[in-house]
Amino acid sequence: MLVKLMPVKLQGLTLTVVSPVFPAGLYCCYAVIIVLTGAVIVLSVALSLSVRSQEQVSIKNTYAPCGRDWIGFGNKCFYFSEDTSNWTFSQNFCMELKTQLARFDNLEELNFLRRYKGTFEYWIGLHRESPQHPWRWMDNTEYNSSVPIRGVEKHAYLNNKWISSARSYADMRWICSMPNSCILQCQIPFASFLSLSRDAF
Ligand SMILES: *[C@@H]1O[C@H](CO)[C@@H](O)[C@H](O)[C@H]1NC(C)=O
Ligand SMILES: *[C@@H]1O[C@H](CO)[C@@H](O)[C@H](O)[C@H]1NC(C)=O
Repeated sequence: MLVKLMPVKLQGLTLTVVSPVFPAGLYCCYAVIIVLTGAVIVLSVALSLSVRSQEQVSIKNTYAPCGRDWIGFGNKCFYFSEDTSNWTFSQNFCMELKTQLARFDNLEELNFLRRYKGTFEYWIGLHRESPQHPWRWMDNTEYNSSVPIRGVEKHAYLNNKWISSARSYADMRWICSMPNSCILQCQIPFASFLSLSRDAF
């Protein structure tokens, strides 16, 4: 074919010489394109899986935002009242929001409460039947007394230094607390599945 068309003009020759070569080049290009496309698809799937599993892993350590007027710290949400009242009213206020007067479970939480309260005094969720009885949280679990509570009364509040006790009719602000929503527990099975598939890559 090539030989037969040789005498044709320069323009024709150029075309003729190129065209037998072209299909081979074309197949080669197709092959390269297919291989590259395949590689791109595989890489993007791998990437998106790994990104998604990293998102899931980071969600594992975070919590839903606390509601309006509530402040998140660690795995709890806290509400600092602006009104003042007696202990009973304060506890009822928290209970109507399906929460309790504030509880702290470690020194970080207590230090956060103390930092955030400023100079005001706030009721928290510790009470006792008498000075001879142990302090208890609102769910009746015993307070471990790692941070001592001053005074001989039956209801505890945060004062400027640490924790003191007062009579229930004392008038002050209050703090409610509740556990934060469980993005953590709800997402664990999905997250660990994706971590596994990411490790496979
Ligand atoms: C006692 O309670 C405090 C604060 O609530 C906490 O930091 C500490 O780890 C607890 N100690 C024990 C032995 O449970
Ligand atoms: C607590 O405060 C509420 C609302 O101000 C009041 O109705 C109630 O009688 C008070 N209770 C005590 C024990 O002082």
